[in-house]
Amino acid sequence: MNPFVGETERELAGAVADWASSKGLTNRIPAAEKEGALPPDLIAELGRLGVLGMTIPEGNGGLGASAVAFALVLEELSAAWPSLAVGVAVNSGIVASSIIRFGSAEQRKRWLPRLTDGTGLGAFALTEATSGSDAASLRTTARRDGDGWRIDGRKQFITNARYAPFAIVLARVGAMEPQRTSAGITAFVVPLDAPGVSIGPSEQKHGLRASDTSALILEDARVGRDALLGEEGKGFAIAMSGLDGGRIGIAAQSVGIARRALEVARAYAKERRQFGRPIADFEGLRFRLAKADSDLSAARLLALRAAWLRDRGRPFTREAAMAKLYASEMAQRATHAAVQILGGNGYMRDYAVERYARDGRATTIYEGTSEIQRIVIARSLLAAA
Ligand code: CAA
Repeated sequence: MNPFVGETERELAGAVADWASSKGLTNRIPAAEKEGALPPDLIAELGRLGVLGMTIPEGNGGLGASAVAFALVLEELSAAWPSLAVGVAVNSGIVASSIIRFGSAEQRKRWLPRLTDGTGLGAFALTEATSGSDAASLRTTARRDGDGWRIDGRKQFITNARYAPFAIVLARVGAMEPQRTSAGITAFVVPLDAPGVSIGPSEQKHGLRASDTSALILEDARVGRDALLGEEGKGFAIAMSGLDGGRIGIAAQSVGIARRALEVARAYAKERRQFGRPIADFEGLRFRLAKADSDLSAARLLALRAAWLRDRGRPFTREAAMAKLYASEMAQRATHAAVQILGGNGYMRDYAVERYARDGRATTIYEGTSEIQRIVIARSLLAAA
């Protein structure tokens, strides 16, 4: 039982869990992780099933599901295959919500179907080589050119760029000098077949290897007037509020990763015999599992609380940051405990817990490091009356 979850939400998550186990993903994951790409047929199927459009309102061709349902679905996808969950989280989370909330009717009509048709996954391009945690220091520029815009810059570590129909790109209109400022930062919807846009080589990552991460290069990239997302100069707030929602998704991913690693560890501990009995009989191990299970539940509740607030139109910036901070750090402990419980077998690839530990490592980093979450929480805490 969970006070934040209704029957429909539970059913949706259950359906996605059933889908994931019926697809025999475990047999496909090793090859896809080695190749560094998500299988297009799975993306197409998630599109057909409505999962890619689940956060999109029914009027725009989606399922109109709640943020709570989306968090539960991301937990299930992540438990099944973290790399797949990341691609869906970016597409149906920060990218979809930015278009829904800030796009014109024309932009919603043009771009939302591209996020749901299963032919690709949308991308969000904020980070640059010299602008990571300090997002407001970004150097990509946009200048007016006749009826449209010309954008110049190099975005780094962009999830899905290789298969995206478009990316939301944050660029600065006007100069950053003399002072570092978020003023002038503007959001654009950039079709990735626009002139001057190219994709850099795929990064070789520690984990999440089937989720492509590439640079997005904009060299005098020409986009039309209709590429402007929201108001000129309001892009930083668009990015930050998008990240608020995205952070709930990372918390949910962390919960899924930790849950699956602990499920494997629990099953192993009951089977594996040493010193004449199952290792699950040893109190050291039992206490470790008990603590990990309690932390897992707490993390899920934090993620669902933030999603529940979001569904009710209430502020959730601080709660999303808390959920991401707690859940991502919990996932580090849980996956490392799982590797340790499996011992030598945990260090080998056969049981997959080593992959969950590698995949889970990203959760304390992307969509804002743990340190950034602490900044967000502390600012909100200290600003409160
Ligand atoms: N919602 C709406 N507006 C917000 C906001 C929010 N959550 N947070 C800040 N703003 C607004 C502020 O109100 C302020 O507006 P005004 O100038 O009008 O007053 C403006 O934005 C600037 O705010 P700050 O002064 O707080 O900005 P800052 O420079 O101090 O930065 C920060 C704040 C929290 C450190 C921010 O830079 C940050 O979150 N950094 C981390 C970046 C990040 O998460 N990157 C992830 C990359 S994307 C990714 O990983 C996706 C992927 O592919 C998986």
